[in-house]
Amino acid sequence: MFHAEELSTTGVAKEDEIHAEWDVKFRRVDKSLNGNFKEHFPNCEEHGFVTSEPGGFFLMDKYSHHAEKIYRFQPRSDDVWVVTFPRCGTTWTQELVWMIMNDCDKIRAKAPLMVRSPFLELPYMLPLNATSPEIRNMMVTLEMMEEMPSPRIIKSHLPFYLLHPKLLDTCKVVYVARNPKDVIVSFFYHHRLFDFHYFDGDVEKFAQYFMDGEVMFSPFFPHILDAWSKRHHPNMLFLFYEDLKKDLRREIEKIAKFLDKSLSEEQLTDLREHLRFDNFAKNESVNMEPAKQFGHFSTEGHFIRKGKTGDWKNHFSPEMNKRIDEWIDKNLNGCADLKFITQLEFQD
Ligand code: A3P
Repeated sequence: MFHAEELSTTGVAKEDEIHAEWDVKFRRVDKSLNGNFKEHFPNCEEHGFVTSEPGGFFLMDKYSHHAEKIYRFQPRSDDVWVVTFPRCGTTWTQELVWMIMNDCDKIRAKAPLMVRSPFLELPYMLPLNATSPEIRNMMVTLEMMEEMPSPRIIKSHLPFYLLHPKLLDTCKVVYVARNPKDVIVSFFYHHRLFDFHYFDGDVEKFAQYFMDGEVMFSPFFPHILDAWSKRHHPNMLFLFYEDLKKDLRREIEKIAKFLDKSLSEEQLTDLREHLRFDNFAKNESVNMEPAKQFGHFSTEGHFIRKGKTGDWKNHFSPEMNKRIDEWIDKNLNGCADLKFITQLEFQD
C-alpha cells in the first residue's frame, strides 16, 4: 500500500515532493465484508472498508492504495479548495466559489461542475464497475488536475491530515460545516440514491453507524473540530451551511471578500438567484440528474434534495434525538465556542 521507494532512507519524502512524513496506515474493517454490516450495506462487499491509523478515518479500500499519492498532491498558491464533510453544502459552495473566481461566467458554468471543479479523491474511491464509462470520463485524475489552468477550484471530503500538509499555508480553503442532525438525514438519503453506497435500513440505524464512525468519510467530529481549530488561519474561511441558508447574499459577499474579488450589484443579485435552492435543484450542471441515465443511481430521490435546516425533526424519534444530543455533547466537550444551529426561524 505504501510506496517505500518514493521515500528517502530516513522515511522523509524528497525535497521537491513534500516536507513531511507519511505515517498513516490502513486496516481492513472485517465486519464490512460479512454479518449485519453487509446486510445494511449490501453493495460494499465488492470493496470493503478500511480505517486509518491514526484517525480512524473510514473509506473504501481502494482509497487506501492511493492515499499517499493524494496526500502528496501539490496545491498551487492560486488554488481555492472547498473542504467539507459530505452533505454539508459542498456542491452549493463549490458552485459559489467557482462563479466568484470565474467572473460569474454563466456560459462556462454550463459544463458539469465535477469537470470544472474536480473532486480530488473521487477517482480513487470507487471500483470501476461502480461507475459508468460516461461518469468515468468526467472524473478528473490527479495527473489531469496538474494540467488544469489556474485558478483551480478543488473539492475534497478528506480531513486535513490526509491532505497536503502545506495546503493551508499555500492556498485558500473554504471549509463548510453543517449541524450533524441534518447531515445524518441528508447522508442517509445520499446512501439511498447511489446504488453503490446503498443502505438497506432505516434512518435511525444509519444514524447509529454514523455516530459509530462507520460510514464513509467519518468520523464526523474530528473532521469538523480539526477544521475549527484552523479557523483563524488567514487562508481559511470556516462557514456554516445554516448561515448560507439564513442570508445567502451576506455569505456570498463574505466569500468574495475572502477571495479578494468584488462583484457588481448586478452580479451579486444574479449569483444569489443562480444559487437559490429552486434554481440550483433544476441546474443540470450541478444537480447530477443527467447522470441518472448512465445507471448506478436510483431514479427516486435527488442529489439536491430538500435544502432545509431542521429536516431531522421529520426523521428522529425523541429517543433517537436524545441519543444524538448526547453524542454531540460528548464530542463538543471542551469546545464550547463551536455551536451548531439545528433550526432556523427564517430560511431561504
Ligand atoms: P439535503 O439533503 O438536506 O437537502 P453536499 O453538496 O455537501 O453533498 O450537500 C448536499 C446538501 O446540500 C443537500 O442537503 C442539498 O439539498 C443541499 N443543497 C445543495 N444545494 C443547495 C442550495 N442551493 N440551497 C440549499 N441547500 C442546498
